[in-house]
Amino acid sequence: MKNKLTLLIALSLLLFACGKKSEKTVAKNSAQKVKQKVIGMSQCNLGEPWRVQMNEDIKLAAAKHPELKVIFKDAQNDSLKQVAQIEEFISAGVDAIIVSPKEAAPLTPIVKTAYEKGIPVIVLDRRVNGDKYTCFIGADNKKIGKAAGEWIVKKLGGKGNVVELKGLMTSTPGQDRHSGFRAGIKGSNIKIIFEADMKWLEPNARKEMESALARFKNIDLVYAHNDPGAHGAYLAAKAAGREKDILFVGIDGLPQEGRMYVKQGILAASFEYPTGGKEAIDSVIDIFSGKKPEKEITLKSHIFTKENVDKGGAWL
Ligand code: FRU
Repeated sequence: MKNKLTLLIALSLLLFACGKKSEKTVAKNSAQKVKQKVIGMSQCNLGEPWRVQMNEDIKLAAAKHPELKVIFKDAQNDSLKQVAQIEEFISAGVDAIIVSPKEAAPLTPIVKTAYEKGIPVIVLDRRVNGDKYTCFIGADNKKIGKAAGEWIVKKLGGKGNVVELKGLMTSTPGQDRHSGFRAGIKGSNIKIIFEADMKWLEPNARKEMESALARFKNIDLVYAHNDPGAHGAYLAAKAAGREKDILFVGIDGLPQEGRMYVKQGILAASFEYPTGGKEAIDSVIDIFSGKKPEKEITLKSHIFTKENVDKGGAWL
């Protein structure tokens, strides 16, 4: 009797387990039925918080679409590596490419190749040359540079000695933040006493600022093309005991970086440069659903200062 009972229990356990197993297979099969679309994303580097944030924004937006699979690659600030990554995406037959290029010229031909093969290519933040891509997404860097110039003229009462620490000048945001800024200070008595290409990197900015401090006794303000650059300049000034005599202005305005520096009184202003990660996914979704994407999506930006940072900044 006892043996029969044990057998019965064992049998029902086995049946229960089989039931569970077949449930799993069904679930797996129905998940497989949703055909995933693959997006290759080539990020110029992941050494800066702003780029980490861009990938996060892409991940977050893509997570709302289970049919999307994003493959991220980090080009580690190497244009050749980035070209190779896009070549790999093309040969793997991805359904779309998102690229945030390091530099315009070296990336232009491979983006054109992908585009002409019929792969939708979303170019994010830094441009390529020409128009052989599906959609460009980014904020207006000339407008940001000009707004920074005009704000600086006002802040300094129309005159003063300014250091300009430029982003990589073979990348379009560096070029535009420079020309926009020069347009913004035009007609004022602001003198650019020192300028250098710090290639977007904080350690370079710090070094360049050390040279500027050694050469000039009077520096009123540093305009850096990004917040890491402005922070590097601040650190150099602090080490020389001169940070209280100089104002620092940067661009990016991340909550955990530029906006925090503004709150801490390290930066006098930071201009927002949105990552466009969410908009890139929106535009891929549009493309996959057959809508014709816009060729150019211009993102808006804010200025953050001590007065407005806690209220969310002010639109440019
Ligand atoms: C990060 C970064 C940002 C800047 C952007 C310009 O690599 O330098 O700080 O706003 O790239 O492309």
